[in-house]
Amino acid sequence: MAFRSIEWIEDKGVLRLIDQTRLPDTLVYLDLTDEHAICDAIRDMKVRGAPAIGVAAAYAIVAAAKRSKAESLKDLREDLRAADNSLRASRPTAVNLFWALDRMARVIGAATSMKSLRTSVLAEARAIEAEDVAVNQAISRYAMEVVPQRATFFHHCNTGSLATVDLGTALGVIRTAHESGHEVFAYLDETRPRLQGAKLSAWELMQYGVPHAVIVDGAAPHIMRTKGADLCVVGCDRVAANGDTANKIGTYALALAAKDNGVPFYVCAPTSTIDMTTQTGECIEIETRDEGEITHINAVRVAAKGAGVYNPAFDVTPARLISGIITEFGIAKPPFEDSLMRIMKDKHDG
Ligand code: MRU
Repeated sequence: MAFRSIEWIEDKGVLRLIDQTRLPDTLVYLDLTDEHAICDAIRDMKVRGAPAIGVAAAYAIVAAAKRSKAESLKDLREDLRAADNSLRASRPTAVNLFWALDRMARVIGAATSMKSLRTSVLAEARAIEAEDVAVNQAISRYAMEVVPQRATFFHHCNTGSLATVDLGTALGVIRTAHESGHEVFAYLDETRPRLQGAKLSAWELMQYGVPHAVIVDGAAPHIMRTKGADLCVVGCDRVAANGDTANKIGTYALALAAKDNGVPFYVCAPTSTIDMTTQTGECIEIETRDEGEITHINAVRVAAKGAGVYNPAFDVTPARLISGIITEFGIAKPPFEDSLMRIMKDKHDG
């Protein structure tokens, strides 16, 4: 089954998104016409995954520009600033959201008329969308340098086509290895509390015919030790300048298990997720989500009524546990202060 996670339909003025909260049971597309609905979809995780959030936010600005009743460039910019502000408040950890909105803000600032603004925000959102696909393909190409012919992977959360525009980052690496003839097996952390691994990554790998097993998060160290593993591949929501990496809660535990078992641990990172203005992981804001995500599964209470709950949605894996950061410009190796700096410089020098 082919699917497109995110798509702007210009003649209808709608952003078409897969509602990821309905998967794997139902494949439902949402047609969203206004920036408030897109913002809510990001906050409620109908669209999720750092790159997909960035693209959705860019199109929210396009939708806001289209809908605005402003009669001057100044007022149109005001309307877009309001949209920008609410989007920035939707989810704090994934830097792609802020990166995409910064790109849109530069274009808005450069426009000389209402017409040119509307044309250029659409062009910029389309560019962000197209770049995401190319970047993921490049990440997969570089990743093949470290994927052995017979490869048992561990993977956390969902980093596939659903989390991006297409292919994905870490899950894209697993899929690419399989499609290019490697003998692949993937252990998928179910990824409590929202179960992105069990619900979304398993759904994707089934469609691509990739052999896999969903495991409970706590089983990863045991399975690594008893069954063996060749590498872990994970995505990221923000990589600090020193390589510390924020990703879905449970990633740090997987990295510790990998270290203890001598398994290489790779972060797949589009450079849009590398934040050189954040020096270390300690400076990354970690989103805390609703306690209902822990007390209930699919609306069924599983925790004792009245139980205390703490629900950080992300954690930070220290750079010392990371073997390499696979970007669209190559694989950064420790010390990441130097290798990430070089990669970001190459990117800006073109
Ligand atoms: O809360 P989520 O589901 O948006 O978290 C997603 C992740 O942590 C992914 O690993 C990350 O965004 C990278 S997706 C290519």
